[in-house]
Amino acid sequence: MIGMSIAIGSDHAGFDLKEAVRNYLEELGMTVKDFGTFSTDSVDYPDYAFAVAQAVSKGQVPRGILICATGLGMTIVANRISGIRAANCLTPYLAKMSRRDNDANILTMGGRILSPDQAKEIVKIWLETPFEGGRHLRRINKIRELTGG
Ligand code: RB5
Repeated sequence: MIGMSIAIGSDHAGFDLKEAVRNYLEELGMTVKDFGTFSTDSVDYPDYAFAVAQAVSKGQVPRGILICATGLGMTIVANRISGIRAANCLTPYLAKMSRRDNDANILTMGGRILSPDQAKEIVKIWLETPFEGGRHLRRINKIRELTGG
């Protein structure tokens, strides 16, 4: 993971957890592009989900992490951007499966649900688990064929 680039973003409800996750990613030696927000002042999650999802969709970074209160709003927005497979992973098992079967390229988490330690464990597994390919690749290709995005 050293040197790997990743985008990160949050709204006000995810700000504290974003800071903890960003520090953790930097400890792992990753290059982090932080799209904000940069305080707990109230903002709108679609702005941050769109920015991070665009960066991944355009290939500026291979993966992204988005955090709001629940992870739900970020997931809804990010999955409307072409090529994005955003997964709201609130357990290590979901993080593993979102990579192995779904090749998720954006991880979303709930800042009002997860502790920093829980989030770090989820992030580590999500970063380390490879996509299995095979029949799962066929299914992912169908997403594009069926929806165009
Ligand atoms: C903000 O209160 C909250 O709605 C937002 O962080 C997010 O969880 C929405 O899905």
